Amino acid sequence: MSFPLEKQEKMKSYKITLLPGDGIGPEITNVTHKILELVSRKFGFELKFKEMPFGGSAIETDGIPFPDKTLQECKNSDAILLAAIGDPKYDQLPREKRPETGLLKLRSSLDLFANIRPVKIIPSLTKASSLKEEFVNEVDLIVVRELTSGIYFGEPKGRIKTERGERAFNTMSYTSEEVKRIAEIAFKLAKQRNKKVCSVDKANVLDVSQLWREETILVSNDFKEIELSHQYVDNAAMQLVRNPSQFDVILTSNLFGDILSDIAAMLTGSIGMLPSASLTKDGPGVFEPVHGSAPDIAGKDIANPIAMLLSAAMMLKIAFNETNAGNYLENAINEILNEGYRTSDLIITETGKQVSCSKMGELIAEKLK
Ligand code: IPM
Ligand code: MN
Repeated sequence: MSFPLEKQEKMKSYKITLLPGDGIGPEITNVTHKILELVSRKFGFELKFKEMPFGGSAIETDGIPFPDKTLQECKNSDAILLAAIGDPKYDQLPREKRPETGLLKLRSSLDLFANIRPVKIIPSLTKASSLKEEFVNEVDLIVVRELTSGIYFGEPKGRIKTERGERAFNTMSYTSEEVKRIAEIAFKLAKQRNKKVCSVDKANVLDVSQLWREETILVSNDFKEIELSHQYVDNAAMQLVRNPSQFDVILTSNLFGDILSDIAAMLTGSIGMLPSASLTKDGPGVFEPVHGSAPDIAGKDIANPIAMLLSAAMMLKIAFNETNAGNYLENAINEILNEGYRTSDLIITETGKQVSCSKMGELIAEKLK
């Protein structure tokens, strides 16, 4: 016997805090917002968006880069979708008032210790890479960057006046527990992929890296099927441009991951293509493009919205478990690229069909109807 009324499922609904931020942020957010509406309609779930001030724009409206009301909204949501923050005009402000400080506070307040930055070559874009095609066409790696500790957050730090002028210092510090929890993320990811983890450190010089290496080896004992290797960060930077397809999962600390993920980004042709997810144990994650706010091209409608769209796809899959919807969006993006459409950052031959940021959004939207 069936009970049709009881069987009727409530439509799934997810709360997203949108942080458009600065520079090109609002333009790419606009595109992403519209596309997500289409995807949710197509796949039968509801998305509730709430836009909040963050970064430079929050400095303008609220006097600080990360107002408490924004933090509260973030905590109450299922996921946070962030575009980009920062503008040179805030460089003169005291550090605690700068947009970047707001971003670091967001990361630490939500304990977003695991930053996942996938770098996968899109076949139709191999020509856009800074490297020769044959070096990049097999690249499919993930940078797993520790995001809430290391030199970004270590104490003591500061500036002091001495008899011989000023001295400034930061501390690169990790506890065993901090290394262990990020290493576990890397190994678990590798398990679903090509089963290789390369841990990047500077253990030939730094004590903190020595601990990093020891803890990583300990964690690897629980993942016998995963091949663990180690590289010093200077060598890893070289290997990323010498032979990037050797990597599967790169596990590294906050500062090294910041640098290496920018290098890895250029393998794909443009930093305008790279998405990321910043995750915690349980609680909402932040999904954001790897690129910055690009104030030099802001307001011109020429930015590439794809990194943010791919971040939205990661959000659908990781935060909401809407895997089909996420894959569908990724495929729509691939199709448009296959058809030759490019934002200006991706144009390297006259053969690409150059389109604006909003036009790129409209083309992808067509595929989702
Ligand atoms: C990144 C950015 C940030 C970082 C800046 C904006 C604080 O470069 O997310 O990679 O250094 O982590
Ligand atoms: Mn960076």
